[in-house]
Amino acid sequence: MNWTKFAGELGRYPTTRLRRNRQSDWNRRLVAETSLSASDLVWPVFVIEGEGRREPVTSMPGVDRLTIDILLDEVARAEEAGIPAIALFPQVDPALKTGDGDEALRPDNLICRAVSALKSAGTNIGLICDVALDPYTSHGQDGLIRNGLVANDATVARLTAQACLLAAAGADIVAPSDMMDGRVGAIRQALDEKGHESTGILSYAAKYASAFYGPFREAIGSASALGQADKRTYQMDPANGDEALREVALDLAEGADMVLVKPGTPYLDILSRIRAAFPVPVLAYQVSGEYAALMAAQEKGWLDGDAALIETLQGFKRAGAAAVFTYGAPAVAARLKTG
Ligand code: PBG
Repeated sequence: MNWTKFAGELGRYPTTRLRRNRQSDWNRRLVAETSLSASDLVWPVFVIEGEGRREPVTSMPGVDRLTIDILLDEVARAEEAGIPAIALFPQVDPALKTGDGDEALRPDNLICRAVSALKSAGTNIGLICDVALDPYTSHGQDGLIRNGLVANDATVARLTAQACLLAAAGADIVAPSDMMDGRVGAIRQALDEKGHESTGILSYAAKYASAFYGPFREAIGSASALGQADKRTYQMDPANGDEALREVALDLAEGADMVLVKPGTPYLDILSRIRAAFPVPVLAYQVSGEYAALMAAQEKGWLDGDAALIETLQGFKRAGAAAVFTYGAPAVAARLKTG
């Protein structure tokens, strides 16, 4: 619609008064263009070894790392609250980290055990497993380092094995978050060859080299491993938008079922451009630093964190997101219920 041309025909003050449709709660609800419900949320969770323990993540108020037994209870509650899926991330014992992240390929590693425990408990919540090596490498990079550089194809081979392992453990969706070239196609082919043709791929297609991942790196313990290094040779440059469309086009051609934009709020333009260009489910990830900033302001009494969280989630929906990864998922689902 060419709004400038039709502005006159759509109405003029005083016959037209846009405030009429805002006067009451029922009227506002009646004309709402988008709606946010628990079904729009994916809850990222951090898993630790042990039993009966929760460990608060200092930089993410309200977020705990959970042992598998507690995870089972929490996930049952999330399922009851109507949250459709969770995304699992491990905090790996530093003693198990190696240069090539071998622990990622051990069939009884923490994440594989968490996934099979959830499946054995009969959960109907979707299980999304991250495919990347950073929780497992001693250097904190997402891939293998060869000649001082993160090597693309050697990493893809390893990610492919990791994805197959996660699918065998019971992951419903594997989510490569590493930004190597060609990994979606390699993973799709390997999954199909191993009989995992129903395992989905959610590709982190447009993932930017962002300053907003700090609290996550503390949560999984990759911050100290990474030190001063960055991920700019594989994650995208925040200056770029067109390039995100090329990333999405490639991942779709390689077999991605859904694509994701990350971080969230600073990249709403990217989300909306992808939605306009491709008729596929696009998800957004409201990352740890975005969550931490809102919660820190709430702790200082500077804003109502949950209300601000809901407003940002509405922004994602308006921009065209099918769903949003948010650490606030349980709190938001509860708040949406009570209104
Ligand atoms: C790494 C990965 C990261 C996040 C999810 N998977 C961080 C990174 O690239 O260093 C970040 C999520 C967040 O900040 O909430 N494969």
